[in-house]
Amino acid sequence: MQSEKWMTKLDRKRFGPWAVVTGASSGIGREFARQIAASGINLVLVARGADALEVVGQDLKRDFGIAYRVVTTDLGEPGAEKGLIEQTQDLDIGLFISGAGTGQPGAFLAFEPEQLLRQTQLMGVSHMLLTHHFSRRFAAQKRGATLLVSALGADSGIPFHANPAAAKGLVNALGRSLHAELKERGVGITVLIVTPTETPLIKKMGLDASPMPMKPMPVAQCVAEALEGVKRRKMVVIPGRLYRIMNWLMPHSLVRAMTANMMRQSTRFVG
Ligand SMILES: NC(=O)c1ccc[n+]([C@@H]2O[C@H](COP(=O)([O-])OP(=O)(O)OC[C@H]3O[C@@H](n4cnc5c(N)ncnc54)[C@H](OP(=O)(O)O)[C@@H]3O)[C@@H](O)[C@H]2O)c1
Repeated sequence: MQSEKWMTKLDRKRFGPWAVVTGASSGIGREFARQIAASGINLVLVARGADALEVVGQDLKRDFGIAYRVVTTDLGEPGAEKGLIEQTQDLDIGLFISGAGTGQPGAFLAFEPEQLLRQTQLMGVSHMLLTHHFSRRFAAQKRGATLLVSALGADSGIPFHANPAAAKGLVNALGRSLHAELKERGVGITVLIVTPTETPLIKKMGLDASPMPMKPMPVAQCVAEALEGVKRRKMVVIPGRLYRIMNWLMPHSLVRAMTANMMRQSTRFVG
């Protein structure tokens, strides 16, 4: 089973006894929660949908005997991170996975300014503010790590996905910058450059994986490689050997042209 093959265990003393995962109800965040729980680390599960988070929490409690806390919040709303901060103040936290996000392909000119601000809030600003909060806590306790979820192409630009790419670009630059800055304080920061991964998001974005030259990877692989990177205090993780090679070898102009074609398929949703 792919989920057994791809599993990274963490040291509970270093990354526990509690971890916070945003976007924990589905896809990559849900798999982070599963692999972290398998190391006996308790979880704060964060997303908008309470029912889905409860299902995840109950499953993990049953399978791994961990405790969990559900926090529902819409991170696309300015100030929403404050509720999460308040509801985790009493916990001893050693790991923060900043994964909440989505994709919203479309022509830039077809979005309203309010939609653009919401995308930036969800996929950029909320990650920055939560990283600031948890890193302060980690620096005070001289222990702890954050993993920031960005995306392949965020640094080269993604036509027809321009604003989400810009927000993910913020996250990418933030994490890379902080990696050296926070090392001196005993705090870890790793950026996960998500390469196409089998989650419900692919369908939600209207993408057809069948013509893609490289197929989306199993979500367990993406997460296991990411957690391995966190353990090794890596600055950046790009899951999948072929994607790493492609990222080193391909010029940005070619990556942009390829992603433009892929995203153009989805613009029927917006503009
Ligand atoms: N899958 C890929 O190929 C791929 C590629 C590049 C980047 N990524 C990034 O990887 C991350 C995880 O994506 P995924 O593929 O796992 O997608 P997914 O299966 O759709 O999961 C997204 C998670 O984020 C939560 N979320 C969405 N909007 C939210 C909001 N406004 N406030 C709080 N939580 C919210 C969702 O729960 P609720 O809907 O209940 O809130 C869900 O738990 C995202 O940041 C995405 O941009 C994925």
